[in-house]
Amino acid sequence: MKTDLLIINAKELLTLAGTDSPRIGSEMNELGIIYNGAIVVKEDKIIDVGSTEDIVKKYDNPTKIIDASDKVIMPGFVDPHTHPVFKQTRENEFEMRIKGRSYVEISQSGGGICSSISGVRETSEEELYQLAEKRINKIISNGTTTLEAKSGYGLSMESEIKMLKVIKKLNKNLPIDIISTFLGAHEFPVEYKDDKEKYIDILMNEMMPKIRELKLAEYCDIFTEDHVYNIEQSRRILNRAKELGFKIRMHADEIKPIGGAELAGEIGAVSADHLGAASDKGIKAMRDNGVTAILLPGTIFSLGMKSYARARDMIEAGLAVALATDYNPGSCNCDSMQFVITLACLQMKMTPAEAITASTINAAHSLGLGNNIGSLEIGKKADMLIMDMPSYQYLPYHFGSNNVETVIKNGKVIR
Ligand code: NIG
Ligand code: FE
Repeated sequence: MKTDLLIINAKELLTLAGTDSPRIGSEMNELGIIYNGAIVVKEDKIIDVGSTEDIVKKYDNPTKIIDASDKVIMPGFVDPHTHPVFKQTRENEFEMRIKGRSYVEISQSGGGICSSISGVRETSEEELYQLAEKRINKIISNGTTTLEAKSGYGLSMESEIKMLKVIKKLNKNLPIDIISTFLGAHEFPVEYKDDKEKYIDILMNEMMPKIRELKLAEYCDIFTEDHVYNIEQSRRILNRAKELGFKIRMHADEIKPIGGAELAGEIGAVSADHLGAASDKGIKAMRDNGVTAILLPGTIFSLGMKSYARARDMIEAGLAVALATDYNPGSCNCDSMQFVITLACLQMKMTPAEAITASTINAAHSLGLGNNIGSLEIGKKADMLIMDMPSYQYLPYHFGSNNVETVIKNGKVIR
C-alpha cells in the first residue's frame, strides 16, 4: 500500500498505547515498547504501527522513508503548564535568590510577577508576539509538540486580552498546537493592592465574561497561595469561572499547604499544579475527583528549594501525574521537557518510564486531548520524536543536552 511517511528500524518504539484514560499507579511504567519498530503516517495521522519486519511487507512505496536505526521513537512532549508571553526576562531575581532572598520576598518588594506586569502593559501585541515566537521555537526544538500557554502578566482587561490574542496568533502561525488559559488571578495588580475585593469583582464580572465571549481561553487558572489568592477568594473566583463555562486549572500548594489541593478536588478542577506542599487529604481529594497532578520540578530546582512534590505518594495513591516545565520569566526559565524528566527522576524518584508517561499521554489527557495525541496508535495524530538515544532510560540519564533529532508534528517534519 502507498503511504506518505514510513519510519523503520527504531531500536525502541514507545507507543504508550493501551488506555483511553490517564495512566495511574503501575500503568505509568508501561510504555508499550515495540523493539525494532516501525510507524506509518498518512497525511497527519498514524495509520499503522508494528515491527519493521511486518510493516515493510505491507507498505512498499512510501513518499518518504526515515531509517531510525539505533534510535528511539516516542510521542512528542505535551507541556501542560507554561507562561511564554512576557517582555523582559528576570535573571536579576535568579541571582538575588542565590544570594539568599526568597521568591516571596522578591515578589513582595516589587519584583516577581508585578514587574512582568508592567513589561506586558507597556509592550505592543506585535512585539510580545515576536518575543514569544522566538521562545516557542526553542521549545519546539526541545521536542514539545503541544503546549498550554497562560495569560496572567496583564491583569487588566486590555492587557489580558492582548496576551490571549498573542497566544491565539502563536497557535495559528506556529506548527504546534497551543492551548490557551486565562490567568487573570495570577497576582493582584498594584493599583488594587489595597482594594483586592475591587479587583476580584472586575475579574469575575467584567474580565471573565468578556474572555468567554471572545472565545479567547478554554481554561481558567489561579495562583492559590498564602501571599496571593487565599482559599476563600479562590473558591469564589473558580466557581464563577465554572459557571461561565471555563474548565479549571490551578497553581496550588506550591509553597505552603493552605488547602489548594483540597479545593481542586472540591471544585472538580482538571488539574492542580505545583503541589510541593500538598497534604495527604488534598492528594486524596484530588484522586477521588479525577484531578490530574501536574508537577513542576524545574520550578523547585530554579527556586533553589528542596520541597519537591511527593510524586511517589501521589502515584501510590492512584493519582494521575503529569509533568510540565512551568516555563516563565521568574521562577523557572526552562524550555526543556527533557530536563524536567531528569529532575522528576532524580529529585522525585519517578522512574524514567513514569516520567515519560507523565510528559506525554497523561499531560495530553490533562488538556482533554488524550484521545488525539500523547501516544502512538492507529488513528491518532502523527506527533512524534526521533530521539538520538539507544533506550528510553537514556533520556533522563543524558541531561543538559538535546536528545531530540527530529520533531514530527501532524505528520510533517518540523525540525
Ligand atoms: O507557576 N506561580 C505562579 N506563577 C509562576 C511564576 C510566575 C512568575 O514568577 O513570573 C509559576 O511559578
Ligand atoms: Fe505557573
